[in-house]
Amino acid sequence: MEFKAYLAEKIAGALREAFDASVDGIPGFLETPHNPEMGDFAFPCFRLSKALRMAPPAIAGKLSERIAPDPVIERVECVGGYLNFFLHKTGYAQSIVERVLEQGERYGSSDEGQGRVICIDYSSINIAKRFHIGHLSTTMIGNALYKIYEHLGYKCVGINHLGDWGTQFGKMIAAYRKWGSPEQVEQGGVNALTELYVRFHKEAETDPALEDEGRLWFKKIEDGDPEALRIFNKFKEITLKDAQRVYDMLGVQFDSYAGESFYNDKMQPVIDELREKGLLKESQGAYVVDLEDEGMPPCLILKKDGATPSATRDLAAAFYRKKTYDFYKDLYVVAYQQDLHFRQWFKVVEKMGYDWAKDLEHVAFGMVSYEGRALSTREGYVVYLDELLTRAVEKAREIIEEKSPNLADKDKVARQVGIGAVVFFDLFNNRIKDIDFRWERVLNFDGETGPYVQYTHARCCSVLAKAGELSAAPDYAALDNAQAQEVVRSLERFPELVREACQRNEPSLLTRFTVELASNFNRYYYENRILTEDAAASAARVNLTAATASCLRTALGLIGVEAPEKM
Ligand code: ARG
Repeated sequence: MEFKAYLAEKIAGALREAFDASVDGIPGFLETPHNPEMGDFAFPCFRLSKALRMAPPAIAGKLSERIAPDPVIERVECVGGYLNFFLHKTGYAQSIVERVLEQGERYGSSDEGQGRVICIDYSSINIAKRFHIGHLSTTMIGNALYKIYEHLGYKCVGINHLGDWGTQFGKMIAAYRKWGSPEQVEQGGVNALTELYVRFHKEAETDPALEDEGRLWFKKIEDGDPEALRIFNKFKEITLKDAQRVYDMLGVQFDSYAGESFYNDKMQPVIDELREKGLLKESQGAYVVDLEDEGMPPCLILKKDGATPSATRDLAAAFYRKKTYDFYKDLYVVAYQQDLHFRQWFKVVEKMGYDWAKDLEHVAFGMVSYEGRALSTREGYVVYLDELLTRAVEKAREIIEEKSPNLADKDKVARQVGIGAVVFFDLFNNRIKDIDFRWERVLNFDGETGPYVQYTHARCCSVLAKAGELSAAPDYAALDNAQAQEVVRSLERFPELVREACQRNEPSLLTRFTVELASNFNRYYYENRILTEDAAASAARVNLTAATASCLRTALGLIGVEAPEKM
């Protein structure tokens, strides 16, 4: 049963009787109070006070007189303008637990997206740079949003908008031709590419002719010279091969790798259109779109030397995506430092007269530091993601060795726990907050961590294994106690949280939800025996345990964390 729909109908009936009024959107007004003393659902009457021209407490009073207890509603109370509904505990628990079990991994899903397309630009790594921790958040937030939107019936297109354009690639080709070899880059991978680049800069200090060579090779890439493209594509292949190892560890995939260079031949029409619409303005030899009226610096479209900055590529990419996918939303999961960049070119799309400019959204996130120190390539303080993940798996393995030496498949579980811990930590706080990565917090089995939630899930699974087949029909009256009701209330909140996570592009709501559900279950578990002589009561408690396991698994799945059955 959908409780909100049920209660909304009762409220609508009371409104008709008491005020001869009808109001839209009542189910959406119903809240689930955090404090159980405020009931299972609360209806804020101040939402109606303007339309009814009456103070909220008076409205609550009049409505409550007209809502009688029934098999679902135990009682209604008026508190400060709220109408608080208390449901019959047994029916409430039964209905929610059974719904979770029946829907399994589809719990919290819906078809409200109606197949509308969401483009998600995430990870978007740069060629010839090794995957480091600075790209973890974009990768995992994007991955989680992908899963969350799909859960709600949208169709997602995951786009790795590769940074594969820029003068540095000309320099790298020059360096490669001088000092590199196919074997060296094949074996050394992306590190070998970085070395070439570093060497180029060092030698260019004493040999300025090198810079010219770099420029020449960049020009050749631009002109589509076969040799230049062959080498450049090799660099790309090597970078992507290295990155793929990381993506495999994290379980992340993409539908498209169309990056900056993909738009080389797609920018001219955009520039032409800007000119035709009178938006392009010359400024010291360069071309810009003026945004003074919007209180922003001008958006650079064409540099003095004819080169195109990233805004022009992003514009071309947005037009391409609109045409190719007809997106409902186009999300950019990119650090908040780039906020101005996105606001600028979103505004340009708006000025061009496209109403879908409103569907472009910068999903910003904070910076990551490591053990209290800001990362800096220049100072040589970098943390590579493959190394970080490998270390997490090793550490998880040590803990497992200590806690459960007899566990089967320790390697697999260590991978799930180690990597899950890193991902969970990354998605725990509001995305806009900066993150300080600290090992002691990431892998703490007792804190608000991935391992803690995974451990609770495994605990549920082991209770279920012990319980075996149910031998009696469940008697849900057994769940009429405060701790069990807290678990039920958490389960009930999940579908709403998935929707909210989607609306706000905020996966952390689900991360935090898993901690809430897990700790509510643990509190229940410590104070109640699940398997007792009473088979019907045991069955109800087993079902609550199964529903918890299932919902934890689903929620973890949505944020990209695996849920081992044994730990
Ligand atoms: N490659 C860029 C970086 O590493 C991010 C690109 C984001 N996507 C975009 N369409 N601008 O900072």
